Amino acid sequence: MANDPEYLYNNRMKHKDILVFKNSDQLEEFAIRKWNAVAGDAIEQRGLFTAALSGGSSPVTLYKELSETDLKWDRTHIFIVDERFVPFDHNDSNYRMINETLLSNIHIPQQNIHPVPTQKGSSDEAAVLYERTMSSFFKLSSDGIPVFDLILLGVGDDGHTASLFPGSPALTVKDRLAVSSIPPDESMHDRVSITFPVINNARNIVFLIKGGNKAGVVKDVLENGNSNLPAASVKPSKGKLFFLLDQHAGALLSGR
Ligand code: 6PG
Repeated sequence: MANDPEYLYNNRMKHKDILVFKNSDQLEEFAIRKWNAVAGDAIEQRGLFTAALSGGSSPVTLYKELSETDLKWDRTHIFIVDERFVPFDHNDSNYRMINETLLSNIHIPQQNIHPVPTQKGSSDEAAVLYERTMSSFFKLSSDGIPVFDLILLGVGDDGHTASLFPGSPALTVKDRLAVSSIPPDESMHDRVSITFPVINNARNIVFLIKGGNKAGVVKDVLENGNSNLPAASVKPSKGKLFFLLDQHAGALLSGR
């Protein structure tokens, strides 16, 4: 059993763990162990493991390390938390990043990979198609909501998570599984994002946050209760919430 990480801060509550690690190596090592544990339980109990992954830069190292880990990829299904409405081979595509760092380096059946269909049409149309992908895979009733085993999230400097941005109408959507979302800066491309009803229905939600530029928003979300920040609306209805922070992102938390 790997040694327990050296936490700089370790606040374990019933439904939420806030863990600040001494460095990002330990953060990623913990994240892989958590992935392993959640996937193992899911496969044992339900025969498969469903994970929805975010883009951005924070999870890149984790995805690369996961690709070197011996996991039951044939029982694993990968979905995308949010996507930029660009072709799969576009530099800004989350699918492209996740494929390059993880999917193309593991033996996962192609039918186990569920990207957002951005090849044609519009972000609105892609959102509808992605809802159908989730409804079909999870065999949902008309008003059903998927239960992902794990949803991996990041947080932006502005407190966004997935592609749910401050002040966006997408924040209050309750009757959709995925929506089109327009970021505050048009250079960030139109987006498709899963919604809070899907996020908050997960068995495990893991925020992976690194870097001193996130320390302020982490404190706002975790201690200042700034409800205007979308990341503060991540509150699993039944599942467990984990904030995995490196020493920089967790630097402003009290009690450190
Ligand atoms: C995206 C992500 C987004 C990301 C945050 C944090 O499409 O950009 O899904 O929600 O998690 O913006 O990004 P960094 O990890 O790059 O800071």
